[in-house]
Amino acid sequence: MSVIINKKDLRFTLKTDNTMYVIGVRYGKFPVHLYYGKKMKNPPVDYHSVSRGFEAYYEEYGEEFIPDSETMEFPFFGSGDYRAVALKLRNGKTGGDTTLFTYKNAKKIKGRVDIPGVPCADADENTETLELALVDEFSNCELKLYYTVFPESDVISRYFVLENNSDSEMSIEKCMSLSLDIPKADFDMVSFYGAHCRERKFQRQATIRGMQSLYSRRGASSHQLNPFMMLVDKKTTEEKGEAYGFNFCYSGSFLDEVEVSYYYGGVERTRVLVGLGQECFKWLLKPGEKFASPEAIVSYSDKGMGQVSRNMHRFIRKHILPKEPYANRPIVLNSWEAFYFDIDAKLMVAFAKEAAKYDMDMLVMDDGWFGARITDNAGLGDWYENKDRFPEGLKPFVEEVKAQGVKFGIWIEPEMVNPDSYLYRAHPDWILQTPGYKPLLWRSQYVLDMANPEVVQYLKDSFAKVFKDVSIDYFKWDMNRHLTTVYSNALPPERQGEASYRHILGVYELFRWLREQYPNAMIENCSGGGGRYDLGMMKYSTQIWTSDNTDPKYRTYIQHGSTFGYPTATMSCHVAHVEDCRNPRFLDYRFRVAMNGPIGYELDVLQLEDSIKNTMKKQVAEFRCYENLILRGDFYRLLNPVENGSRYAYYFVNEDKSQILLTYLQNEGDPKRTKFKLKVSAADKNSVYIDRLSDKKITGAELRAGIVVESDTEEQYSKMFWFCKE
Ligand code: GLA
Repeated sequence: MSVIINKKDLRFTLKTDNTMYVIGVRYGKFPVHLYYGKKMKNPPVDYHSVSRGFEAYYEEYGEEFIPDSETMEFPFFGSGDYRAVALKLRNGKTGGDTTLFTYKNAKKIKGRVDIPGVPCADADENTETLELALVDEFSNCELKLYYTVFPESDVISRYFVLENNSDSEMSIEKCMSLSLDIPKADFDMVSFYGAHCRERKFQRQATIRGMQSLYSRRGASSHQLNPFMMLVDKKTTEEKGEAYGFNFCYSGSFLDEVEVSYYYGGVERTRVLVGLGQECFKWLLKPGEKFASPEAIVSYSDKGMGQVSRNMHRFIRKHILPKEPYANRPIVLNSWEAFYFDIDAKLMVAFAKEAAKYDMDMLVMDDGWFGARITDNAGLGDWYENKDRFPEGLKPFVEEVKAQGVKFGIWIEPEMVNPDSYLYRAHPDWILQTPGYKPLLWRSQYVLDMANPEVVQYLKDSFAKVFKDVSIDYFKWDMNRHLTTVYSNALPPERQGEASYRHILGVYELFRWLREQYPNAMIENCSGGGGRYDLGMMKYSTQIWTSDNTDPKYRTYIQHGSTFGYPTATMSCHVAHVEDCRNPRFLDYRFRVAMNGPIGYELDVLQLEDSIKNTMKKQVAEFRCYENLILRGDFYRLLNPVENGSRYAYYFVNEDKSQILLTYLQNEGDPKRTKFKLKVSAADKNSVYIDRLSDKKITGAELRAGIVVESDTEEQYSKMFWFCKE
């Protein structure tokens, strides 16, 4: 049982395999947070407010209950709790923004409550949900807090539904799905920052007293700051110590807030909030209407950052990602870095032939196949094949590609339009554009207003027409700019605060439609590389193009950072760049760097000598040996490249520990030749393993004690071990 309701004491306990979460209700009214951590018989649940003077209290409860120092389950504005809040509501009639939500009742739900329009985790037979209903007596608005428990991955998710039962319009001014008050300060915050081609670089910093936040105001989860973050104890390492991981199942602008209490020498508090925030989100709730927030998740472990990552990986694989459409993950040959926009049917068929010859599974035809899209200045939005390039049409072309013996994938960028397009000329009002202000350009394109149902319908109709009877196995769905001048011509002025959110709802609607039309196709998500690497996108896409940067010098950092919150199975990694691939050492290195996730190739193989292509063929076969480990194994980080001068090491282990794949990568040469002891703590201590790459024997106990790897003086150097039980 994961949800335990004790109505007598108003005590609610959530249990996962290794953690527990306890909620109480003070004075029968205020839901307070009592414990979250390791599962134990008698968790310490006795902390609550301490009066320090100079603070607000309710007349009835006196200084025993100080909202500003309590551990609140769901803080709201105007309550005497001056920390950041989860909910701010403005009453349309009075103009007031004070609310007082108090406990009404609780119930347990088998499975979960779905969130209309936004992706959320799938429930299974072990999933249970606690519903805590609160009411604001003045307005009669009802707030239902949901806690969905995924026991086997030690994840709890949070979302809420607000129902306006009043006779006034209510405006949601701040919306955070998850709120957690931890009775402690002095954490380190681990987060992932970057830019286009520099996504998700690990950073670890001490939290400061006051507010720190991660956010996007770009209408996409963004390359800049990922919504995934961890809070860890100062002493926490990969393998040891307390760690909390947080994430948000949403792909637009977001806000993660971490606020540490100011008082010292006594009550210590860290408040974590994850949600839509307030700058890019407002919602008007008319009498009788409901609003459901997107879902946020949290996981805890006392076994280090590595375990929180593995919890996230298991959760995403089991409850977020779509079902794998093929027995093996297709190894693709992508046309983009090979030809950019210069593609046509003849070239693509020749390319497909090469892919098949060297045992790759799929040709992915990237940008350049439609409308007037022969550069990035024109054609976006006009979804019909370019007749000069595909004179017979898409159907016979794709049949010819498939006749070469490969699957077929195609690039689309539905959410965008070039001003130089038939679509824009016909519907200039279909873009996000604030009246009176010129829209900004970005890669010569504007953002379509996906909050407008007519736009979404146009896209459905266009794709239905151009792909009619075309056998497509894979879509690469791209999104190559962020939102500006956000305003939807389909919404009335008083609903413009909803435009950014409704835009994403339109995007999700189109994703769902595409999945329904092509239930057996796979979607690879992309946004200028890994600009939408988030749980919302993962609900529809099996993998994500990790970054437009395929240079190992950067890729190792990007991939390392991505593994903290996301399973390696989602991390699409290509071997690219013709010149480097001509050098056998660099080709080998690129391949090993790519094998941190599902691999592909993205270079003009037509230019390459047979010997190089034969090496690629061997690589494809080698990847297949490890595929199960890489896509489904447990992942352990050993060396952090940010802290070890570009040296990155990790291993995968399968469930019965019969196979371990360990990789050491070094981008730069090391004149000192440093020795690293890499402890394979997940090895089976009672077994003997053989490294199939060197045929050397080693015991599980020796692996656990650590193998020594020495760095090399040369740049782009790697070592790999494939330990298999004897
Ligand atoms: C983006 C993607 C690339 C490629 C181009 C095509 O930059 O990240 O992989 O698809 O668009 O225009």
